[in-house]
Amino acid sequence: MAAGQRGQSPLPPVFRKSHVMNHFLDIHTTDPAALRVMIDQAQAMKTARNGRGHAAPDDEQPLAGKMVALIFEKPSTRTRVSFDVGVRQMGGQTMVLSGSEMQLGHGETIADTARVLSRYVDLIMIRTFEESVLQELAEFASVPVINGLTNRTHPCQIMADVLTFEEHRGPIAGRKVVWSGDGNNVCASFLQAAGQFGFDFTFTGPPPLDPEADFIRFARERGSDVQIVRDPMEAVQGADLVVTDTWVSMHDSQSTKERRHNQLRPYQVNERLMAAAKPDALFMHCLPAHREDEVTNAVMDGPQSVIFDEAENRLHAQKAVMRWCLGV
Ligand code: CP
Ligand code: NVA
Repeated sequence: MAAGQRGQSPLPPVFRKSHVMNHFLDIHTTDPAALRVMIDQAQAMKTARNGRGHAAPDDEQPLAGKMVALIFEKPSTRTRVSFDVGVRQMGGQTMVLSGSEMQLGHGETIADTARVLSRYVDLIMIRTFEESVLQELAEFASVPVINGLTNRTHPCQIMADVLTFEEHRGPIAGRKVVWSGDGNNVCASFLQAAGQFGFDFTFTGPPPLDPEADFIRFARERGSDVQIVRDPMEAVQGADLVVTDTWVSMHDSQSTKERRHNQLRPYQVNERLMAAAKPDALFMHCLPAHREDEVTNAVMDGPQSVIFDEAENRLHAQKAVMRWCLGV
């Protein structure tokens, strides 16, 4: 075949690359209209599954022929399993990679890793420590990158949480969400979501563990009523949703554990605190929980708790996130 003719041959479909490449790095950097589409699509896909087994493929197979790399530099149960199952339900395949077993953990640059992985896979999800790793990966990858948690944020969790709230209580816009405890990575993504989905957010916790000012400023600039209230009983007045998380995150030094526990004990979510919120307030926790520390068993297993719906909704929300990333 002459060189000129070669260029005229249409590529077989297998070689065609999608032109859509959306990174899902954070709630505040994603268009609010796109976030809404993802939540609605997640709900539609969940409804369409209609009680089929987890291994059953979806009728639509938008990830057929796609390979997804799931990289973990920190432990995970929900993120790991929900992404893996979600990709398979949509007809794709996964490879789960541990950061320490890759050259990434032994000095190869993030940029080189991004360029190499992009030659093999169609989508990368990473759970890592520093946000800069996620950002560098996204900058140099030629395939979409999803944030599966960094020290600073956890956007996939909050997509599941918004889906869960709306399933139980209708639109989250205009509602009051109260975070009691450490102003950590999950709290940060909740604040970003307050700005993007239009709900109000009250943080109650000790001053040294306040959420970063940038996150508060973002939500306020978007019109969310963000309050910091030191008295937890006062903070939960009128709450539609009460949320907490572990007092010691994976990136926190264990040497801070005792100090953190002492600072955070007044902010435990217990029946007394839930009784001060609206009577139909929901309780959420991203899990894993340390029962009887940040939350009591009575609340975890009580009628207001939707923690296992939240965990399930990681699956449905992330399926919609992956479809948006790939434009499929
Ligand atoms: N909530 C959450 O991200 O859980 P894992 O750490 O188990 O993935
Ligand atoms: N704040 C927790 C969330 C775990 C899903 C952590 O970063 O360890």
